[in-house]
Amino acid sequence: MQTAIRQQIFENAKKWVYEAGERIRSHMKKQFQIDTKSNPNDLVTEVDKATEQFFVEKIKTTYPDHKLIGEEGYGDTVDKLDGTIWIIDPIDGTMNFVHQKRNFAISIGIYHEGVGEIGLIYNVMEDVLYTGLKGEGAFRNQVKLPMLREKIQIETSIIGMNSILACENRRINEKKIQQLIKDSRGTRSYGSAALEFAFVAEGVLDCYITMKLAPWDFAAGSILIEEVGGMTVQATGEPVNILTDNTIITCNKLIYKDLMTKYVELK
Ligand code: IPD
Ligand code: CA
Ligand code: CA
Ligand code: CA
Repeated sequence: MQTAIRQQIFENAKKWVYEAGERIRSHMKKQFQIDTKSNPNDLVTEVDKATEQFFVEKIKTTYPDHKLIGEEGYGDTVDKLDGTIWIIDPIDGTMNFVHQKRNFAISIGIYHEGVGEIGLIYNVMEDVLYTGLKGEGAFRNQVKLPMLREKIQIETSIIGMNSILACENRRINEKKIQQLIKDSRGTRSYGSAALEFAFVAEGVLDCYITMKLAPWDFAAGSILIEEVGGMTVQATGEPVNILTDNTIITCNKLIYKDLMTKYVELK
């Protein structure tokens, strides 16, 4: 993607993210409708839907040839990586949005011909915007993030994960995850995959492991991670597929081998 075009898209995306964040904050002061999707804990609110519609309207008006994939289904059906694609989670961490009124984010990854070019993750209540531009680095409120730590092992790592991984489950060997919890310095669960990616990019987590993420959960985050020298793969070690659900490990490269050989065993 040409630098000048990318910069213009980035500036617009940033402007819309701040505007959407402001709308979310003002919606929160009013009553809003909460529904469930696939199960009683899979929440969606009218604010999630309105925020996605806001982005669809902006993008389709300004960039009619761009495609858009959004969690709430107002975007396009996309099965090829041709052209420019915006991958949007209007609210990542809806459960936090509903119950905690904090710890949720807007996440936008912009891909061109299959390459992640621009990532934005906006922690709405903290007013912290994480951005990544391919080849130019990752930023937290416009301050460049340093490359990830160079001296690190599992024993000095903080691991982000859903605690459910340590319970009996059908996807991953929970005994090895329990060992990871014991061996690492500590574990954290924030309940927003996008923020967990941003925290790995920022170096406040050293890894985030989860067994099922959709493209809108990791599209932006994986761009940021790349820019600070980290890596994002499926839990099998294969590259992620940006158009499907994936298991995900995103981490500092220095602990990847130990994670895979000692602690991650898929069932
Ligand atoms: C969810 C959050 C959560 C993760 C789930 C996601 P949503 O996204 O990121 O932390 O564990 O897998 O689906 O539904 O709140 O946008
Ligand atoms: Ca959801
Ligand atoms: Ca999400
Ligand atoms: Ca969402």
